[in-house]
Amino acid sequence: MTIELRDVSKQYGGGSVAFLALRDVNLVLNEGDFISVVGPSGSGKTTLLNIMGCLDVPTTGTVLVDGQPTEKLGDFELSKIRKEKIGFVFQDYYLNDSMNALQNVMLPLEFRGRSNKKEVAAKLLESVGLGDKLHNFPTELSGGERQRVVIARAMANKPKYLLTDEPTGNLDSVSSKKILDLLRELNSERDVSVVIITHDKDVASITKKQIKIVDGMVV
Ligand SMILES: Nc1ncnc2c1ncn2[C@@H]1O[C@H](COP(=O)(O)OP(=O)(O)OP(=O)(O)O)[C@@H](O)[C@H]1O
Ligand SMILES: [Mg+2]
Repeated sequence: MTIELRDVSKQYGGGSVAFLALRDVNLVLNEGDFISVVGPSGSGKTTLLNIMGCLDVPTTGTVLVDGQPTEKLGDFELSKIRKEKIGFVFQDYYLNDSMNALQNVMLPLEFRGRSNKKEVAAKLLESVGLGDKLHNFPTELSGGERQRVVIARAMANKPKYLLTDEPTGNLDSVSSKKILDLLRELNSERDVSVVIITHDKDVASITKKQIKIVDGMVV
């Protein structure tokens, strides 16, 4: 089980506004990996994560998910891969403010038509330490708690890969540690391959592997 990037380049825009955000990136996310991605602002980290997660496609090069090349797949097939295999924890992946924690985590289960969604969602929230906040709305949760709801939601479809973009950004050190412990546990106990984009050296130091990106290149 791998996500593999072969000679991936990504260009935004065209003509005089063309910008090469990734250049010939080769990378494999293996089963059980726990990787941090560091690099300056604008270096291409989020672009890389979007492409790894099939949220965006490379301009040139290939992305293989579990051996399957994705370049010829359409939106429907790509979204199927995402739903079945990949969990996302992005800062701009907002929770639905009109739904409580339980309902937010039930949302991805809903699309799958799964029975006992409520119990599954409640279990997930318990596993991230929010068993007593099931009925709180996002506005009634702390930043760290909201981020744990996002992680619970990302885990709803039992992804093999969990891609996170600054999961501890804007959090105090205590909340930050809770999130990191949680990600570490998902990696070691549930065998989820985890990628963490971070600006924080302490966060990067707890991962098994580190990748540095500068000007769209892995260095
Ligand atoms: N849709 C877009 N159109 C044009 N340029 C873009 C687009 N998205 C990103 N870029 C540019 O591509 C480069 C890489 O962006 P990206 O978001 O991957 O950086 P990043 O490493 O995640 O930065 P940060 O740490 O600030 O989040 C940046 O220079 C950015 O301005
Ligand atoms: Mg970014």
